[in-house]
Formats: sequence, structure tokens, C-alpha cells
Amino acid sequence: MRKDKPSRTAYKVALNLVTLGSKPGMDSILPPGTVRATEKLLVASGATCARTLRWAHSKRMVSIYESFDWMLPGQFEAFAHRKAFCEGQVRDGIGAGATQILVLGAGYDTLGWRLASEFSDVKFFEIDHPATALLKAKGINAMGQRDNLVLIAEDLGKQKLVDTLKSNRQWEQGANTVMVAEGLVMYLSPEAVRDLFRQCFEVSGAGSRIAFSYIPTGTDGRPDAGPWTGLMLWLQKVAGEPWHWSIRPEELGLFLEETGWANAPELTGPPGRHGVEFYAVARK
Ligand SMILES: C[S@@+](CC[C@H](N)C(=O)[O-])C[C@H]1O[C@@H](n2cnc3c(N)ncnc32)[C@H](O)[C@@H]1O
Repeated sequence: MRKDKPSRTAYKVALNLVTLGSKPGMDSILPPGTVRATEKLLVASGATCARTLRWAHSKRMVSIYESFDWMLPGQFEAFAHRKAFCEGQVRDGIGAGATQILVLGAGYDTLGWRLASEFSDVKFFEIDHPATALLKAKGINAMGQRDNLVLIAEDLGKQKLVDTLKSNRQWEQGANTVMVAEGLVMYLSPEAVRDLFRQCFEVSGAGSRIAFSYIPTGTDGRPDAGPWTGLMLWLQKVAGEPWHWSIRPEELGLFLEETGWANAPELTGPPGRHGVEFYAVARK
């Protein structure tokens, strides 16, 4: 990705959510408060202006997104399902005893900000590349800091997660933790993904889990985005955030085992693809 500029894909996910807020039926899928908080964050951070938000909210924008279904079937609505999946994992994990939440590659995600006030005895951490994290921090400042929300600006491609967290006095090594990697691992190199899972294992305690989304590998060995894979891969590359990592669902169990984790389809929910991605949960 472009190191000096805030993530375009994170911005697109956030705008997509705003538009989903205008699509009938989506309010029963999107976690409550997501759309409103995302709008606030986008404006408060300076990532966008009120005019763009109004446009993103329009019925016309819903139609435009829907008209791209030929290229990526189900992808528009998939962002709502992904948010619901991740938030469900966090709530479930807290219910099962987690006291720490870590959102990796958080972008403009508002889960930490929204849930920190609801679960005041749980610590929320977010990490993102500095260019995006600093803009977001500006927005969170304006929206109202949470004492139990820690925003970390770090390039996970350069700095080890283990070192970043160990040097943070608020991080509790060995705590039951829910980690979220939503729309992240496809942007990292295969070595970086393997290393990230190993490090997540190292920094968390018994009972922890990691919830993530991933793109499956196609028969040609490339990330499989459906019939228009070639075009999608090219668009991602041109946008400066190419996809590097994918995996065949049947190979996920072994991959996770090699990094210390156990695949936990029983925690993941109904199997199947959501747009271009699959969801997965690994537990310790
Ligand atoms: C597609 S966005 C997803 C944002 C958020 N997880 C969501 O779904 O709303 C990918 C995010 O990963 C972050 N990211 C990519 N490479 C990273 C790296 N090397 N270190 C830290 N963050 C990274 C980007 O800055 C961006 O915010």
C-alpha cells in the first residue's frame, strides 16, 4: 500500500457502510450505531466532507453500488455482514471472558469507539498504518476519547506486533483477548500473514480468539474474486493496495495449526462466501 497516504480501501469500506445505511433491510444486519458513528468519524477526521456523505447516503448511490453486482456478486452487502460477524465475535468473546480487544488494520472501523463505553472494564486497542491511524485519531479526539480505547499508529510490515504491544504498558500479555483482522490479511505478504498469526498467539492468553476475513485461492493460484478476478486484481494494484495473500478454505486448518491456533468453524457461524471473502475464527 501507499505508505504516505491514508488507506483508500479503508475509506471505501467506510463510505460503503454509509450507503448501506440507506438500503432497506440493512439496519437489521449492521450493528446498531455503526452508520451514524462512521459518518461522524469520517467528517471529524477530515477524511471526507458533509457533501460527500450526503451523496454516499443517497438512493442513487445505493443503485450505483448495486449495479456493480455483476462484477462482484454480493460484495456491497458483504460489508454489513462482515461488520456484524466481527462485532458478534467481540461480544461473544467478551461474554466468554475476554478482557482485551485488538483490532488490526482498523481503518475507519468504529467498533472500538462504540463498544468501549458499553464495556468499560474491557480494554480496546487498535493498530493501523500511521497515515490512516493519525487521521483516525484526529476524528476520535473530536468525537470524544474513551479511557479504555488505545489507538496505535504502526506499520505492521515494518514493526513486529509483539514489540509494539510489549512496549505498550496498557497491553496485558496473557489476557484472554479477541483479535479482529477484518479485510486486512489479503494486503500482507504470505510471510507477514504467517508471522502475524504467530505473533497474535504470542501476545494473547488462554481462551483468546482471532476473527478474520480472507480471500480464497482460485484454481489458478491467484486470489479468487470470481469471474472478474483479473480486473479486480488489476484495480487493487492500480489503487496502490494490491492483494498478496489468499488461501484455500480446506488448507486453513493446517495453516492455523502451524501458527499455534486451532481453526474454530463452530465459532464462525454459517459457512459460505460473503462477496469475495470467507470469514474464519481461530482459537487458542
Ligand atoms: C480494507 S482496509 C480495512 C479497514 C477495516 N478493517 C474495515 O474493514 O473497516 C485495510 C486496512 O489495513 C491497513 N493496513 C494495511 N497494511 C497495513 C500494515 N502494514 N500495517 C498496518 N495496517 C495496515 C490499512 O491502512 C487499512 O486501514
